[in-house]
Amino acid sequence: MKINPRRLLLHIVCVIPALWLFWQIWLWYNFASHELTANPIEYITDFTGDWTIRFLLLTLAITPLARLTKIKSPKYRRAIGLYAFFYGLLHFLNYMVLDYFFDWPLILEDIFKRPAITFGMLAFTMLIPLAVTSIKFIIKKMAANWQKLHRLIYLITVFAVVHNYMMVKADVLIPVIHAMILFGLLGVRVFLSFKKRKRAMKNI
Ligand code: HEM
Repeated sequence: MKINPRRLLLHIVCVIPALWLFWQIWLWYNFASHELTANPIEYITDFTGDWTIRFLLLTLAITPLARLTKIKSPKYRRAIGLYAFFYGLLHFLNYMVLDYFFDWPLILEDIFKRPAITFGMLAFTMLIPLAVTSIKFIIKKMAANWQKLHRLIYLITVFAVVHNYMMVKADVLIPVIHAMILFGLLGVRVFLSFKKRKRAMKNI
């Protein structure tokens, strides 16, 4: 199998935050000095949540960036989307295992009673079918339906940004920046599809 150096570099960059986090958890577990602050569980939730949202926004940014740079078929969108799922899974596992210790009645109560958690859960649940259908042979089988399903990424990111905004305790600057990036990307998307429709009308 031939290794694509660019793809390899992308994977290395994308796993660095997770490796750093696992290293810090290992230090914490061994009572060594670590960077997870006095509240490691909260730190891990915030860290993994932040990386999930960054990868979601990056996934949405790839097509507009490709159009701007006149690249015809943008690459790595699927891989970056899968990293959003990976960090989202770490975020949810941390909540479920370390924070709530599999206390399902309490977890369910939290999901249904706290709107912020409801939005997070909706975003994460919708990411699951996108991750599962990102396997190459499923993409081929689904054909045009794959693109339709993967448009969910916009709604997922909207829910994720709402969750992020509602979850921060004091400074809302970062969630507001996330929301601004999201609106900018949605604006570019609307503009691009408007341009495409106009071009199609001209060709009739
Ligand atoms: C795609 C899905 C999700 C994304 C993008 C996401 C993202 C985030 C972000 C960015 C934060 C704030 C981090 C900060 O303050 O720096 C956060 C906090 C939090 N999230 Fe999520 N989240 C998602 C799903 C979930 C789910 C499914 C749960 C649990 C069922 C959850 C539980 C929490 C909790 C409890 C916090 C607050 C942690 C604290 O005490 O500071 N999130 N999330």
